[in-house]
Amino acid sequence: MGPNLINAAYLLAAILFILGLKGLTSPRTAVRGNLLGATGMLLAIVATLADRQIVSYETIAIGVAIGAVIGVIWAVKVQMTAMPELVAAFNGFGGGASALVAGAAAFMPGTVEGVPEIQVQTSITLSGFIGSATLSGSLIAWAKLQGILRWQPRGLGLQVLSNGSALAALGMGAAYILDPEALWLFCALCAGAVVYGILLTVAVGGADMPVIIALLNSCSGLAAAATGFVLGNNVLIIAGSLVGASGFILTQIMCKAMNRSLWDVLRGDLGEAAASSPQGDVYAGRTKSTSPEEAALLFETARIVTVVPGYGMAVAQAQHAVRDFANLLEARGAEVRYAIHPVAGRMPGHMNVLLAEADVPYGKLYDMDTINPLFAETDVAIILGANDVVNPSARDEPGSPIYGMPILDVDKSQVVLVVKRSLSPGFAGIPNLLFTRDNTLMLFSDAKKALQDLSREVRDL
Ligand code: TAP
Repeated sequence: MGPNLINAAYLLAAILFILGLKGLTSPRTAVRGNLLGATGMLLAIVATLADRQIVSYETIAIGVAIGAVIGVIWAVKVQMTAMPELVAAFNGFGGGASALVAGAAAFMPGTVEGVPEIQVQTSITLSGFIGSATLSGSLIAWAKLQGILRWQPRGLGLQVLSNGSALAALGMGAAYILDPEALWLFCALCAGAVVYGILLTVAVGGADMPVIIALLNSCSGLAAAATGFVLGNNVLIIAGSLVGASGFILTQIMCKAMNRSLWDVLRGDLGEAAASSPQGDVYAGRTKSTSPEEAALLFETARIVTVVPGYGMAVAQAQHAVRDFANLLEARGAEVRYAIHPVAGRMPGHMNVLLAEADVPYGKLYDMDTINPLFAETDVAIILGANDVVNPSARDEPGSPIYGMPILDVDKSQVVLVVKRSLSPGFAGIPNLLFTRDNTLMLFSDAKKALQDLSREVRDL
């Protein structure tokens, strides 16, 4: 295939990526968007295979087969609630792959033809730095989310070490650009970046983990874009830049959803505050618990019911049970709405995906800004395994570790029915005084079982 045809194919692939991303901005067009993006990727792969002769097709086929087997096994085994860990690992592998390609280009100079040397060396440096830091940072994020790593150092010393390692690595990178024969400089650059990735991520904790994962996702895209410059491959530059930009936009959205700056997230100050927040028995004698039989009476006259799903709904896999319960209420004349917080659950869009899987009509899902003024007219707000995203301390208590994070104003409803198994805290590890409010009733149960029990009781009313 001639270079013009290859570049035309890359251009078409880039257009498909952009249309795909556009489609992914709304659940209505998401499936088509996904398909467009996948078609663009297929086109890019085919054009690259037709263009490059770096390794034999047999080697590529072996790589594809091994990757496909591992990918399929992992994808089938992973629980929906463990998706952030999977995404963290994928980001790391993306960054690692970019650093490896940069390394190959550094150790085998001249492999890539037609790219100016200074471009190759500068891009090798960037790709090695960002890719290595993304790899180590993502593995730390993965270990933290898995609960394997509980270490969360903080403080000035850590910041000095972290920034120092980044500066040292970049210094090695600058020296490597000036003297590309000195390969040890490239290796030292990567080692420094690995240390930087670890120190950057290890301080982050608590509810901030989604932000760092989005940031690492952005970094994996930037590493891929830098690798595109190493190889002189336009589609890799475009695809990497799109991932880099969209990951960064997501990082910003998440920071905004938590009312935190990226700097605060990276300093790990939430972990600090959460660790020092009161963990004693703040609930002693101040909560009111109820039973399914009693709680069902709330729905006898309720005209507007708002369901607030959270991480517990995902754990309990209660999405089908909630749809059945909502159908039952609607058949009795009530209006059922779903209030979706941007960081409810453990991954962006977690609640939307689960509710879509249960065929809950998209029109019934309300985002936080739309639903908040409507809680005042809600008769019953039923909280299904949500905790941090409904914690009024974020709104009312300036001293709270999560103060300033926008929340769903469920406490403004007539009655709040909280379904969870115990008084355990949510992801941020802090108490929730919503549970002690006068208009709150606690139904201690697994979310799915509670909904099944409630459905049975409401049917008997
Ligand atoms: P959380 O605050 O994490 O609270 C979840 C609650 O679900 C827990 O208090 C738990 O209480 C309950 N639960 C667990 N299993 C349950 C079950 N089977 N049945 C009923 N309840 C169950 O959840 P949230 O309100 O959705 O907030 C999300 C948190 O995760 C935020 O802090 C957010 O920053 C963070 N985070 C979000 C993301 C993204 S991108 N969405 C990614 C990572 C972290 P019991 O144990 O007492 O049942």
